[in-house]
Amino acid sequence: MAEIVIIYTSETGMTKQYAKWISQELDSDCLILEEARAEDFLHADLIVFGAGIRGGRMRKLRSFHYKVKKSGWSGPVIYFATGGAPYDEQTVSDIIASSFHLPDGYSLPFFYFESGVNFEKMKGRSRAMMKMYKFIISVRKEKSEAAVGTRQALSKSYDHSRLDYIRPLIKEVQKMTST
Ligand SMILES: Cc1cc2nc3c(=O)[nH]c(=O)nc-3n(C[C@H](O)[C@H](O)[C@H](O)COP(=O)(O)O)c2cc1C
Repeated sequence: MAEIVIIYTSETGMTKQYAKWISQELDSDCLILEEARAEDFLHADLIVFGAGIRGGRMRKLRSFHYKVKKSGWSGPVIYFATGGAPYDEQTVSDIIASSFHLPDGYSLPFFYFESGVNFEKMKGRSRAMMKMYKFIISVRKEKSEAAVGTRQALSKSYDHSRLDYIRPLIKEVQKMTST
């Protein structure tokens, strides 16, 4: 049976929740990026890597790629990102474009899961950035549905995470590991 390892980074616990759901579903190890040692994932046939979105980009991709390259591991990676925005095809394409800088015509296995925002667990820098976003949005005074929705979303903590959202990723793992 193929060995799958989940590696994730999480500031407020949103990505951690999805990583745990995925690892339970696949019965696989689940490692924190910052703590993962090469010997913990060198045996993997496939790695699933997850992180939250900051300003439209996936966090810590560079750290992940650096760690994996340094370890000498090479194999397929499936990426997942969590964010406060609802799922939308254009949003997901934009996240992929900003995070990976892929040449035209290239794609990679990537899944986006709507999560939420947790102000209580945010660290100082994130909280300050959020305050700035809130300020910028409030001074624009836009009345569009999207602008009103964003203002509401940034007014207090919320969590729209759902176990069901991981199903397409699980299917992709099964497809990529079935021989
Ligand atoms: C400073 C900051 C910027 C964010 N930018 C985005 C964003 O551009 N798009 C989005 O969907 N969510 C955004 N979010 C929400 C996070 O991506 C979301 O809460 C994510 O699930 C956090 O995961 P983690 O706490 O496990 O790292 C932002 C959150 C913070 C704190």
